[in-house]
Order: sequence, then C-alpha cells, then structure tokens
Amino acid sequence: MVHRFVNDDLLRLEKLRIDIHAARGTAAVVDDVSLAVAAGRVTALVGESGCGKSMTALAVPRLLPAAACCVGGRIHFDGRDLRVMPEEELRRVRGRRIGMVFQEPMAALNPLMTIGRQVAEAIELHAGVRPREAARRAVQKLAEVALSDPQRVARQYPHQLSGGMRQRAMIAVALAGDPDLIIADEPTTALDATIQAQILELLCAVTRQRGRALLLITHDFGVVSAVADDVAVMYAGRIVERGPAAQVLARPRHPYTAALLRCVPRLRGPRVALPVIPGAPPAPFAWPGGCRYHPRCALASDDARCRHEQPTDVSVGADHVAACWKTENT
Ligand SMILES: Nc1ncnc2c1ncn2[C@@H]1O[C@H](COP(=O)(O)OP(=O)(O)O)[C@@H](O)[C@H]1O
Ligand SMILES: [Mg+2]
Repeated sequence: MVHRFVNDDLLRLEKLRIDIHAARGTAAVVDDVSLAVAAGRVTALVGESGCGKSMTALAVPRLLPAAACCVGGRIHFDGRDLRVMPEEELRRVRGRRIGMVFQEPMAALNPLMTIGRQVAEAIELHAGVRPREAARRAVQKLAEVALSDPQRVARQYPHQLSGGMRQRAMIAVALAGDPDLIIADEPTTALDATIQAQILELLCAVTRQRGRALLLITHDFGVVSAVADDVAVMYAGRIVERGPAAQVLARPRHPYTAALLRCVPRLRGPRVALPVIPGAPPAPFAWPGGCRYHPRCALASDDARCRHEQPTDVSVGADHVAACWKTENT
C-alpha cells in the first residue's frame, strides 16, 4: 500500500526562527527560513559554514542544543506542525518517520555495540518486533546500504570499519524505522571523493526507491549539482534563493548563489584558479543590517536599499524565488 501524504511537500518550514542564547545576548541564527522538501525528491540546503544549516536541520525533529531555541514559525510535516506536537508523539516521529544522518558516524554510533545490534535495536524500537526478527532484518538493512558481506559487518564494531562503511552503517540505522524523510547533515564531508560519490548515490537511491524525501545539507555546490532536484541557498541565517536545482544552477538569480557557483571546480576544460568570494561570512551576533550579503556583494555598493532594507522574496520563475533588491537586473 502506498502511503499518501497530506501534501506533496512532505516537509515545509515556514518562517522558521531560531535564537541562540549566549553571554553576549541573543541572536537569530536562523531567521525567517521557509523551505519545502517534496516526497521522491532530493532537496539540498547549501551555504558556507556557520550560516545556520545544522540548526535548521536539528530544529525539525526538535533536537536543537540547549543554547538554541526555536522561537517562531512552523514545521509542517505530513500535515502536522512538529513545533507544537506533544513530546511523546514526536518520539514516535523521530526514527520511525524521520531518519537522521550526520557527518561523523563515530559520534552517532555506539563504539561498544556491534553494528548489527545497533541496527537491530533501532528496528525493535520502531517496528516493535522481537530481537531474533530484528537481527534478521538488520542484516537485510546492511545489505540494502550495499555493504558487502552484511553478515560479517553485523558482527563488527564501528572502529573495525572504514569511514565509508561506517557512514553506510549509520544510513542503515537511519533507515531502520523505514522513515519517509531522511535528513543528512554533510554526510560525505569527511570522506574522500570516490567514497563521497558512492554514499551520495546510495542516499539518493534509497530516497527515490520508496518515494521518500531527502533533505541534504552541504557546503559544497558540487554536491548540489551532482544530485539535487531542488535547492535552497542559505546565507547568514536566511534563505537567499530557492528553486528547482536545474534552474538555479543554469541561471542563479541571487549574487551570492552566482558567486558560489563560480567557485565550483569544473570537471572538464582547462584548469583555472578558482575565484573566492572576497570577505568572510558574518557571525550571528554581527549580521549586517539591510541585505546580510551586501558587504560582500559587487552589486550593492551604491545602493542604500541593499545597505538598509532586508530584501523580500521575488518570484523569478516557476517555484524559483530570490531575495535580492537587484534581482530584476541580474
Ligand atoms: N551550541 C552553540 N552555542 C552557540 N552558538 C552556536 C552553537 N552552535 C552553533 N552556534 C552558532 O550558530 C551559527 C549556525 O551554526 P550551524 O547551524 O552549525 O551552521 P552550519 O551548519 O551552517 O555550519 C554559527 O554561526 C555558530 O557560531
Ligand atoms: Mg553544520
């Protein structure tokens, strides 16, 4: 039986705001973020380090660190708002309906427990089956993530596996509850290029096979161009551009997206020195006024609006939106 979602967008963030409380005061690390993740599609959230990607990801299953707090907006998931869902109900959503994959599997896996036991435990918890049946299904899950000799891997401990195998094992744990949504936060950043491509391919395959949805978080536009169906570009806590990946890549409409794209190495053609975006992204307690990108933007220098007014979303195509005062001109 095919489960029908209440909405085509399995996950829809609406004007999400996350504050960080520190000794210096309070800052919005995620500000007014709206984003849709559709079933059967890979949605990439891309931006430089520190722009608020992980905070956005952790807010969905309400797993933010203690210093951070979701103070506004909605998190629609299959017709419900996770922000106000009772904790007990949310516990059943985590793992069973939303699977999480992180950059560092050693931090997420238990070093003292065999891989098979860890996957089986997650299956017991979510599917409510007995340990013997869970152990059998765990081996199946390890095969599903293309680990060769899954019987053997099931008996091994995390430290006995290579980085790529550990990442596959963590994906198996994330898939244990057969989730509809997978949130993967920089899942391949720590891996070398070949393994990175294999893991991305695996994540996309398990997403599309079952009509699942994948929210893939990355700082690497190369990853976006390789696998994303939809993309949201984040800068300094805000989404500056979002839309179908093919459109955004072919014709970026925010100067930040365009600048990021220029920094992506080409696979073919002559080797050239890649440009870098001058300046560094600002920190949460120092977000600039107006458009947060204006101090680094070549188009903004003489424009008072860029310096003083927060740009609003402009529709620049089907499902394609950019938040830039200069969008009409680009
Ligand atoms: N535990 C924390 N306490 C205070 N500030 C934090 C904490 N975690 C992250 N931050 C700040 O929040 C901002 C967003 O962080 P994060 O979502 O991790 O960014 P990204 O994942 O895009 O690299 C960063 O600028 C970071 O300095
Ligand atoms: Mg992060």
